[in-house]
Amino acid sequence: MSLNGIKILITSGSTYEPIDPVRFIGNRSSGKQGYAIAEALANAGADVFLISGPVILEDPKGVNVKRIESCKQMLASCLDVISKENIDVFISAAAVADWTVEKPAKNKMKKEDNLPPVLKLVENPDILKTISNLSNNRPNLVVGFAAETENVIEFAVQKKKRKGCDWMLANNVSPENEVFGGDENTINFLNEKNELEVWKKMSKKNVAILLADKIVEHFTVLKNSNKF
Ligand code: PMT
Repeated sequence: MSLNGIKILITSGSTYEPIDPVRFIGNRSSGKQGYAIAEALANAGADVFLISGPVILEDPKGVNVKRIESCKQMLASCLDVISKENIDVFISAAAVADWTVEKPAKNKMKKEDNLPPVLKLVENPDILKTISNLSNNRPNLVVGFAAETENVIEFAVQKKKRKGCDWMLANNVSPENEVFGGDENTINFLNEKNELEVWKKMSKKNVAILLADKIVEHFTVLKNSNKF
């Protein structure tokens, strides 16, 4: 079976949270994992929508790409796509900033004669949690990532419950693993029943192909039982 007729929305990359017109808070996500997933799913026949933070990657072939900067823009773009398209799968691979600056300065902050500024941070909306809990148009399958540096499986199980997603791909992002920005990843895959599969270290492209296979399997089972 292919993913013909299945519509998939993916987020990827970092978000930039403005401090002033020239400075921001961001993180080390390159977008490679999310872009590889978008490409693998498009190759499998899905209609793919990618909402991307600022990255230096080229748009994957056959994918509808929208580039944004902040978490709030990413959320608004996701909800816009969900309201217009009948999205079947949402995959949250972006490294979204948990906090943003409460009041970014309108003009470039001056160093001269000023003490270093104290930035007041406030919580950003949680995109994965919002989409997992939509009462209208919730995608049939919602997939999150968990980026952890310790107690990877335990924290991923807790995060999956807290956010309300169906599957969770947990990766250990300790600096020595070079997951942020690197070409390889080691995934701990949790399904809806919290059954765990440990995927050996492999390229991000192969992680994307394995995830695409899982999604094909999911819809095959649903279609065979007339539930989709
Ligand atoms: O981009 P690469 O360099 O290829 O690196 C890939 C990756 C490490 C970024 C990717 O594999 C990954 O782990 N993505 C999720 C990173 C992350 O933000 O994890 P988290 O554990 O902080 O968040 C949990 C989940 O909630 C994630 O699905 C995240 O997209 C989502 N989230 C988090 C905060 C927020 N405000 N909104 C969200 O939707």
